[in-house]
Amino acid sequence: MDAFRILGGRRLEGTVEIAGAKNAALPIMAAALLIPGRTVLRRVPALRDVTTMSRVLEKLGASCELNGHVLDMDATELLSHEADWDLVRRMRASIYVLGPLLARRGKARVSLPGGCAWGPRPVNLHLKGMEALGAEVTLDQGYIVAEAPPGGLRGAHVSLDVASVGATGNILMAAVLAKGRTIIENAAKEPDIVALADFLSSAGASISGAGTSTIEIDGVSELKPTEFENIPDRIETGTFLAAAAITGGAVHLTGVRPDHLPIVFDRLTEMGVRVSVEGQTVSVEGNGKLQAIDITTQVHPGFPTDLQAIFMALLCVAEGSGVIKDTIYGDRFSHVPELRRLGANIRLDGNVATVKGARRLQGANVLSTDLRASCAMVLAGLVAEGETVVHRVYHIDRGYEQIEVRLASLGAQIERFREEGP
Ligand code: UD1
Repeated sequence: MDAFRILGGRRLEGTVEIAGAKNAALPIMAAALLIPGRTVLRRVPALRDVTTMSRVLEKLGASCELNGHVLDMDATELLSHEADWDLVRRMRASIYVLGPLLARRGKARVSLPGGCAWGPRPVNLHLKGMEALGAEVTLDQGYIVAEAPPGGLRGAHVSLDVASVGATGNILMAAVLAKGRTIIENAAKEPDIVALADFLSSAGASISGAGTSTIEIDGVSELKPTEFENIPDRIETGTFLAAAAITGGAVHLTGVRPDHLPIVFDRLTEMGVRVSVEGQTVSVEGNGKLQAIDITTQVHPGFPTDLQAIFMALLCVAEGSGVIKDTIYGDRFSHVPELRRLGANIRLDGNVATVKGARRLQGANVLSTDLRASCAMVLAGLVAEGETVVHRVYHIDRGYEQIEVRLASLGAQIERFREEGP
């Protein structure tokens, strides 16, 4: 298993190009299942999650070929309607094939992504949406089994209790081929949903309101082959901004969509970091002193939960105390005990973490527990005194393309090595 060895204390400087968004590429890949023909998706990040989604699609009968960052998919013929446990357990986003399979094949059998449908990360809203479109949904031995009514899915009014990104995407994909009009209320407004809607529209779907909380879809009988360019990854953008800020560095990020993360720029500015935007380039300059702030995660355009752990690393070394509240995932704090191993002072009460800053972190062995938590450890390692080893970095490889190479190109002292172990 791979690990990172980081020697803290280097100031980051230079330019980095931001990769395509993982969380937009994955649903768009699933949406390719709706198209009886070829789909070309550009600016696809070369990540493990993308490989996993390719495997899911291939098992269903589609072909997927990634050349550099261009993904060529062909779902002319679908041979199966089952996404099995072995793949879905590796990546929750595999649930995105549910809507497209129901729409195109009239049936789907998809493993539940971990635990029960109403567990800590439930999928009840995905199921509710499919039922609203007329599907019969049952659970069978850990699988979601869904069947469209005779004649196919029918447009419907769906109001989501929570503005779930995944449920919005799944319902949107199911509805584009349904008969009649579907209205999704309290829809997620994340840029990934807008990208998915733009992709579907480029294939001939009729969608309005993506990016607002009400999306209207008029079903069409068939989608057509299309070519599409993915959006840049706003979470990766926020991660590199934070990496520059924590080291007091000066970094330019190119290929950014600044309109996707104004709140992150604002929060960094409040922390005392200079952020400037020119076209698709964002420049950030820290002076080595960060002021503590309070952060509450919210649905877009609020502060993203995916940057919560990463900003907690910043608060650990900032002046003063800051409070971080995660309203999206109340238990997403596996980075807290690991940050404490580096000397951080964090009190955790439910979904509220109080971080007492102004600490000098000290290098240690830490464990990478999930994608964003791992990244928080890398950032902390960049400022910790001495050597930090982040073990089990396969989580990071799910969401960041060669992060150690790109950080090293900015001057970080970080290397990947293979270690023995389970
Ligand atoms: C997506 C992102 C993930 C991000 C999250 C929130 C992808 C591949 N992943 O995950 O990185 O952290 O959005 O921005 O895009 N919920 C329900 N019932 C459901 C579905 C969700 O109650 O059926 C709840 C969840 O428990 C959570 C909230 O809705 O509290 C948001 O989850 P959701 O937006 O669905 O996250 P994902 O789409 O899984």
